[in-house]
Amino acid sequence: MTQPIIQTKNLVRKYGAFVATDNVTFSMSAGERRALIGPNGAGKTTFLNLLTGQVAPTSGSVLLAGEDISNVPMHHRVRSGIVRTFQLNTLLRESSVLENVQLAVLERRGVGSRMFGGAREQREAAEVAMDILKKLGMASHAGHRISALAYGRQRLVEIAIALALEPKVLLLDEPAAGVPPADSHLVMDTIASLPGDIAVLIIEHDMKLVFRFAQQISVLVRGRLLTEGTPAEIAADPQVREVYLGRAHHA
Ligand SMILES: Nc1ncnc2c1ncn2[C@@H]1O[C@H](COP(=O)(O)OP(=O)(O)O)[C@@H](O)[C@H]1O
Ligand SMILES: [Mg+2]
Repeated sequence: MTQPIIQTKNLVRKYGAFVATDNVTFSMSAGERRALIGPNGAGKTTFLNLLTGQVAPTSGSVLLAGEDISNVPMHHRVRSGIVRTFQLNTLLRESSVLENVQLAVLERRGVGSRMFGGAREQREAAEVAMDILKKLGMASHAGHRISALAYGRQRLVEIAIALALEPKVLLLDEPAAGVPPADSHLVMDTIASLPGDIAVLIIEHDMKLVFRFAQQISVLVRGRLLTEGTPAEIAADPQVREVYLGRAHHA
């Protein structure tokens, strides 16, 4: 068996007496496409925050390529390749799509965002940014201001910026949330076509999107991993059906 790219072992996060993450042992291999599903409040976002380092575990560990990173701060984890999409409000709304992605490339290369580096660094970063936009089918929007983009396209810029940070593991928390149904396929098609060497973990409520995208699905209920399996296995799982018929529809 090859080494998982990311793993958790007996991961626990408590808030007071409340157990938000309950002994989660989880792993993903390089390039895997995984969905994390579960009712609202199941602890999906908390789990993702434990992977990025935004939230510290109460106990248990997080490993990247076999190395324990439980105590590594978030910005170092980004450098080592654990990247989540940034929220829209971190985008420079009156700058162009290309400028936003270019900034992320410069950031990744250690050229501080205040000191924009020399003309050559600038040009190279713009080229890398443009390549990313081409891969995402966004080349024709490169010169557009963020504020002038449709919401679905803005969400794609978040993904472009994440790619500029050269992820090994890309974490997406409801990337199609709030995107009009007419555009949600655009977001999911883009995610489906991400480079094959990146492991992608997506939290998504829309089961149609989940079943189209995921090779494996992990089901989280009340902080615990209820079950994991292929889309077909999960669809046929009586426990999952019960959770989704019983509770998730209120979510
Ligand atoms: N900082 C916090 N303090 C207290 N409770 C929290 C905190 N963050 C999350 N929780 C609780 O943990 C549970 C799981 O939340 P969350 O991870 O956001 O669930 P999901 O993303 O699956 O909807 C919720 O009951 C939430 O209220
Ligand atoms: Mg959430």
